[in-house]
Formats: sequence, C-alpha cells, structure tokens
Amino acid sequence: MKNAAVIGWPISHSLSPRLHGFWLDNLEIEGSYKAIPVEPEKLEEFSNDLRQGKLGLEGMNVTVPHKQQIMQYCDDISPLAKRIGAVNTIVVKDGKLLGSNTDHYGFKTNLIESGKLPKDVSGAAIVLGAGGASRAVCTALEELGYGPIYLLNRTVERAEEVANDLGGNIIAGPLTDYDKYISDCQLLVNSTSLGMKGQNPLSIDLSKLPKSSVVTDIVYTPLKTDLLFQAEERGNPIVDGLGMLLFQAIPGFEAWFIPPQKPIVSEKLRNHMLEALQP
Ligand code: ATR
Repeated sequence: MKNAAVIGWPISHSLSPRLHGFWLDNLEIEGSYKAIPVEPEKLEEFSNDLRQGKLGLEGMNVTVPHKQQIMQYCDDISPLAKRIGAVNTIVVKDGKLLGSNTDHYGFKTNLIESGKLPKDVSGAAIVLGAGGASRAVCTALEELGYGPIYLLNRTVERAEEVANDLGGNIIAGPLTDYDKYISDCQLLVNSTSLGMKGQNPLSIDLSKLPKSSVVTDIVYTPLKTDLLFQAEERGNPIVDGLGMLLFQAIPGFEAWFIPPQKPIVSEKLRNHMLEALQP
C-alpha cells in the first residue's frame, strides 16, 4: 500500500484527492491520497516527520500557502523549481525530501495536448498577472518558443521582480500596457485570479487580438471564464484551465505510486472532475 497527500492551509477545497483517487481506482493500485491541513507554523515539524517516514507517505503535493516556504525544508530541489521559486511536489527518497515544480509541466502539457498551438510556435505572448502561478507560466511559454513575453500586472513591481528573477525575454509592465501589445500577440494567458467564481471578471478588450491567437486561462471555476467565452465568440482558439490541474498531477502520481501504465487525462477524468466543480 502506497500513500501520498496534499498539504495546504486551508485544504478542504482541494480537488487533488478526487483526481488521484480516480487514477488509483482506474489503474487498480492499492494506495491512498488524502488532503492534510498543515498550519504554517507546523510546516517544519511536518516536513521532518515526512522525511523520517513517520507519516507513512511516499511524498506529497504542496499548495497555498506553503509552495515557497517548503523549499527551505527540502534536501534537494530541481533546477526548474529553483528557477520558478516554488515547489509543489515532494518525493521522499532515501530519507531525503526531493522538491520539484510540476505547475510548469501542467500548463505546458495542457497547451500542447489541446492541439490548438500552431506547428511552429513563435512570436509575442501576453501574460496577465504576476502572482505565484505566473512564474511557471512564463517559464513554460519560453520553453515553447514564445518571445518576447509581456508580463503585465496591476502591481508593476511584482511583474518586474518576476522578470528580473527569471531573466530571458520577459518584459514587465502595468496591465494598462496591454493595449500596446495586443495586436501583435500570438498567445494571451490570464494568470490573475480575475474571472474566478466570486471574483470580478477580467474585463479586457479583445478587438485588436489577431483571430489566430490562442487564449488560455488558468482559472477553471467556471471552466469557461468570461475571457474564454469572449475569445471563442470572436473565433479565437481557446484552452481552458482544468487541464493544467490534471496534467500537473501526473509526475507526482508516477513517482509515488509507480503505476503499471501512465495515468492519462481522459474525457472521463475531466467529466469526473467537472462533477465536483458544478455550482
Ligand atoms: P496565484 O498564486 O494563483 O498566482 P496570487 O499570487 O495571489 O495567486 O496572484 C494573484 C494575481 O491576480 C496577481 O497578479 C494579482 O495582481 P497584484 O499582484 O497586483 O495583486 C492579480 N489580481 C488579483 N485581483 C486583481 C484585481 N482586482 N485586478 C487586477 N489584478 C488582480
């Protein structure tokens, strides 16, 4: 029996147990995946217990607010997670905590698997929002071949910090700069929390966006955000954010449970997750 978990504070909203539970059932693996609330003050103690095998876990996912703090308790961190500055997946191996970041893989794979990207990816991309998720998003876009990446945020200093930390072809600016770059933009990403259920919508004018540009949102509640709805109405290819959640879970699942076959993101899995997202 192999066990894994997701930690956060709070954590009751997490969809990860449902997701990993689906794969455990479908691949007939004897294992468990549960959500464990861990207060920020208890993170060090929890990490030590995990390392020493006291929790009986092969590893865990780490979510808000622990993705940065957990890094100081890892014994080894992948170069990519170091660059992104956040760890969301931990594998316990030989008494060591190995940290990595799979949000980047999740975002990138979701775009690739959507089949909506052009054959030769190139040109400018706009990323709205410079919060925790945007570092993984910018890194993935660079790897896919986009550049320059205009990273626009309400708080410009935050965008500048991300651009400085990541280096490369990332140009930081305020959200209002959007109008300067939109007509030349091959891909538009919302990585702000705007458009999420209970939040204000993201109100931006898409009229100058080329019709061939891909529009994607990391928000997945609702699945079709106002931004995606508007983009689809005018004929742009769209990619919703649910896939990022599903794909980011694959590397952890494979490391902890060593499945007989690769866990896949099927239509059945998407529907299973959507059932839990119904209002
Ligand atoms: P995450 O880790 O999911 O990226 P986060 O770190 O809280 O979440 O970041 C939220 C993002 O949404 C930030 O880019 C934030 O902008 P600020 O850095 O200026 O706070 C953006 N955001 C949230 N509410 C916003 C609003 N009302 N208008 C514009 N941007 C907003």
